[in-house]
Amino acid sequence: MAGAFLSFEGIDGSGKSTQARLLAAALDLRGDKTCLTREPGGSPGAEEIRRLVLEGEPDRWSPQTELLLFTAARRDHLEKTIRPAVARGEIVITDRFADSTRMYQGLTRGDLAAEVDALHRLMIGVEPDLTFLIDIPPEAGLARATARAGAEMRFEDMGIDVQRRARDGFLALAAAHPARFRVIDGNRAPEAVATDVLAAALAYLAAQ
Ligand code: ADP
Ligand code: TYD
Repeated sequence: MAGAFLSFEGIDGSGKSTQARLLAAALDLRGDKTCLTREPGGSPGAEEIRRLVLEGEPDRWSPQTELLLFTAARRDHLEKTIRPAVARGEIVITDRFADSTRMYQGLTRGDLAAEVDALHRLMIGVEPDLTFLIDIPPEAGLARATARAGAEMRFEDMGIDVQRRARDGFLALAAAHPARFRVIDGNRAPEAVATDVLAAALAYLAAQ
């Protein structure tokens, strides 16, 4: 039985974590074996790096150092969690992957698109089989993310302009890779969003 590698992307507060959880639960109910994971993090080493990168002062790291930390975390996540689970035939569902680095370090929070692409080729080299872009208006994302504020705040004071550019950037990425991306309207009740996500996931899995 072949495994699969699915990712969720979208701006902060778009509902990625909620939808990743709902998809894993729906596939589990069908009897599929799933591996629900997240970035930055998803393996013990990468979760340690997550704390370094998401907590503390906003100017703690330069954009270049931050890119290296996200890439190091992703490499560990790939080696220790994603590849072994896919090899066991599981459906890996990750809350964020390399598209987040393309967007944030490459475009909105940093200006390192060439370095992001070079490091990805050198150290990661794989894309998910299918990527769900949960799309919501930037104002809605900011309101949801602010309501949930906690310790991981290094990135979450960025304001509406960054959210707007990130949303546009994600939509452009999806348009550039239509075979891999499914854009889902996230500005609805969670159950309605989940219904569309599950239908797209099942259509993909049935075609494999
Ligand atoms: P993300 O992982 O994209 O940041 P979350 O799934 O953590 O988003 O959701 C952010 C916040 O918005 C949470 O408090 C969550 O309960 C809430 N939320 C998630 N999906 C919806 C939805 N479809 N409608 C309204 N609120 C939602
Ligand atoms: P996450 O925990 O998914 O936050 P949220 O639930 O608010 O979407 O991700 C934390 C932050 O890390 C988020 O602001 C996006 C950022 N990030 C990057 O800048 N680059 C990356 O490569 C990844 C994976 C995340």
